[in-house]
This record gives sequence, structure tokens and C-alpha cells, in this order.
Amino acid sequence: MKMDRRSVLKLGALVGAAAVLPVERLAGAYAGHDAEHEAATLAVPRFAVPLTVPRVLRPSSRDLFTDYYDITMREARQVIVPGTKTPIWGYDGIFPGPTIRAWTGRKVVIRQRNALPEDVAVHLHGGNVPSSSDGIPGQEIKPGQTRVYTYPNHQPAATLWYHDHVHHQESLHTYLGLTGLYIISDVAEQKLHLPRGRYDVPLVIQDRFFNPDGSFRPPDPDAGEFFGDTMLVNGKPLPYFEVEQRAYRFRILNGSSLDATLSLHLDSGASMAVIGTDGGLLPAPVPASEIPVFPSERVEVVIDFAKYPLGTQIVLQGSILGIPVEVMRFDVTRRAHGHDHDRLPSTLVPVSRLREADAKVRRDFVLNLDRATGTMRINGKEFDPDRVDISPRLGDTEIWTVRNGEQADLPIPHVFHTHLVRFQILDRDGAPPAPREAGWKDSVAIMPGQQVRLIMKFGDFTGRYLYHCHLLGHADAGMMAQMEVVRH
Ligand code: C2O
Ligand code: CU
Repeated sequence: MKMDRRSVLKLGALVGAAAVLPVERLAGAYAGHDAEHEAATLAVPRFAVPLTVPRVLRPSSRDLFTDYYDITMREARQVIVPGTKTPIWGYDGIFPGPTIRAWTGRKVVIRQRNALPEDVAVHLHGGNVPSSSDGIPGQEIKPGQTRVYTYPNHQPAATLWYHDHVHHQESLHTYLGLTGLYIISDVAEQKLHLPRGRYDVPLVIQDRFFNPDGSFRPPDPDAGEFFGDTMLVNGKPLPYFEVEQRAYRFRILNGSSLDATLSLHLDSGASMAVIGTDGGLLPAPVPASEIPVFPSERVEVVIDFAKYPLGTQIVLQGSILGIPVEVMRFDVTRRAHGHDHDRLPSTLVPVSRLREADAKVRRDFVLNLDRATGTMRINGKEFDPDRVDISPRLGDTEIWTVRNGEQADLPIPHVFHTHLVRFQILDRDGAPPAPREAGWKDSVAIMPGQQVRLIMKFGDFTGRYLYHCHLLGHADAGMMAQMEVVRH
């Protein structure tokens, strides 16, 4: 696909825009995008296409301990908006890519072939993986080449995802389609009899703009665009989903590349039961009617449609930076099929809390835009692949205090993400995390001026890994750093 160079540069330099835009204009931009620009985008009909679920990839082979997969990253044209074809970059040429289903303790080995015209690197987001399979700088796959990634799945049941991670291109490459789900199951989860099979449905939510010909158009920061005007779910624009009068499990991923800091609710006002976070299930379901899901976060919910009469339509709505958006519609069209054995248990899986008293090391991080240069920084530094910023020790428990250093006149949110380790939130501005956030996390939203304290334990692997803001335009613009886990 030809992505015009100007758009490429613009998206890559999304935050660099701060350097050329007066602060007032940027602040205005965060409050809402330019109306005049909307003419240039394709109007997408609401609730006109059915939701589909990305297909589960079959292993090319298996042995006693391992499932082997082959994936080719390539360009393709896919019908997203009816009547048009969108050029995409996809794992196996589909967007979102095929879903990998893994089991705790059973290894997955994926041979990734790059049939795209640019370097790529595959990162398993949320994966406890060896450094050589993490997709960090230095591990790029050149066009025509392949790389083998080994994922031990030494971690509990959780919804992970994989996406491109080539520095300076991560936001564009994921925007073009290089994203897919990776779902780990385990015995403890299976025993709970949560809704499964066709009642266990991933919802990969991603914002996009479309040109009139159906091609993706990256947001134009000069026009105050920080996220697209159309929400896709599993690659379908504003879809509808026909449901039975029963409970469903939804694995929600905000797979947006840029600033789509989404907060979700049902238009019926009904509450959803939050059962899982980034790193796995919660100790117990938590009812919530408003659920923030910032880019790269996963939230698992159970929604029970049993109480709705046939014919009911419920819209999943959201708001991004205060701007209302529609996401999809649930249409209750069928009675529950057969007996409904799937009851939501009152307890799920225990989450053992890491103890502050066990922490040996404390670190502080500040994330902010450097207004003089338009670069995004962690502790005053732009990312440098040749620099190791911190060296945690294997086996240590650490507490990280992470502050969003933005000022009120330019209220930019950040989403702090660690590779390799999952963490627990100790507190946010001194207050304990909301119960729906009190599980294992690998990404955490931090609003301007806010500070979160995270606790984590380094196990399993030594070597180099990244931590960064997961508004990928910010990572592109330098808000990323490197740790090297070392032995004691
Ligand atoms: Cu989902 Cu370093 O990324
Ligand atoms: Cu950020």
C-alpha cells in the first residue's frame, strides 16, 4: 500500500506537532477537533454491519509441549466500510489479525515473516517473555525476513495482544492494522464456568478516519485531530451484535494507536460486571456502569442480557476527552439457547497482593511533553535505544511512583506500560485503586497532575525490556525508556 509520505510523517510526528502549534491551539485541539475537516472523511453508517470475531489461528504443528504457528505480515484490501475496500497491513493479511489461543504452561512459538515494505517488530503485550522475543529495538525484521518468537506462557489466564513495535513507526503500523489478540486460558479459569465458546467474545475497539475511497487516514494533528471519528470493533465500523437472552463474556481491548482514551457505558445505564484486568481475572466481579479503557488496557466484563425483552437494542457508548462517541449496538434477538449453565460466580481467582514491606527498591518517573522541543520524555529524557535507564534485579520487588507532569493548560493524559512485568496499583494520588483496577495490570492511565504508585516483582527473565507511554504517538515521540533486568 502507498501511504503518502506526508501522512506518514505527520502521524510519526504527531506529538512533534506540539513544537509547531501554539499551546492554546493544542489545548483547544484536545477539547475537540475541527469541524471543517470532517468533510474530507467518509461518513460511515451506524449499526449497519454485523460484528464478527477474528478467527482463531490453527497451529502449523504441535508437539508435547509446544504449539507452532506461522504468520505472514502483509498488505491486503479488506471491506470495512460497505462499498469500499481499505488497504491494510495485517498479520496474515487480516485486520485485526488472527487470534492466538494459548494455555498456561504450554509454549507457543510463532514464526513471523515480514512481507511488508518496511521493518517491523512483534511485541506480545502483557507477555512474560524472554528479552529475545520482546520485539525491542535491535530485533527488527527486515522486509523479506523472518523471526521466531518464543512465548512460554508462564502466567495465568489473561487477554493479551500482539502488535507492531518498530520505534518511530509503532503508532502508524498499528493504525494500518498490525494488531491481534492472544488469549491465555488456564484450569482455574475453566473451573469458573464463565460464558465460553460463542458467548466469550473479544471486542477490539479502535478509532479510525476514512478517506472517501475507504482508505485509512491518520488523524491530522494540525487540524486538531487526535483520534478518528469512527470506532471500529473487531475491524467493523459501529457494528451491531445479535445476542441471546443470557450472559456473555466480553474481552474489551482498546487497541487504538493514539489518544482514544475511552470511557465506556451502556445507553441503558445498566451496570456491567467487571471480571478481569490486563493481567487476568479479578478476585470477584465488580459492578460498574462507567468503565474507562485507555489505549492498550484490557477490561473483561460479563453483561447479562437475560433481563431484556426480545427486540431490545442497547448501545455501547463512550466518551473520549469528554467527546461522546458510539461504539456498537447489542440487539437482543434470541432466547437463550438450551440451558444456561453459565452463572457468574461470586468469587473468581485469588489475587495475592504484593506487599509494600517487601519492596527493596523505589523509583520515580515523570512523564511530560517538553514544550521547547516538542519531544515526549520520561524523567527529562527522550528514548535512546543505546541507553539503559534502569537495572532492576531479578527477584526484587520494586515500587514505582509515576507522575503525569503535564500542566492544566495542556492536559495530556498518559498511559504507562511496562513490558515483562505485571504490576498492582498501590494507590492513585494516595487513594487505593478502584476495585475494578485492583487486579494485575500492565498499563495504567495517569491523568495530568496525577501520580500512581505501582508495585511489581521481577521474576523469570533477565535482559532488556521497554517501558513507555502507550499512546503510541507519545512513544514515537520519545516517551519510552529501557530497563535491563540483571542477576543479583
Ligand atoms: Cu503494547 Cu511496548 O507495547
Ligand atoms: Cu503519553
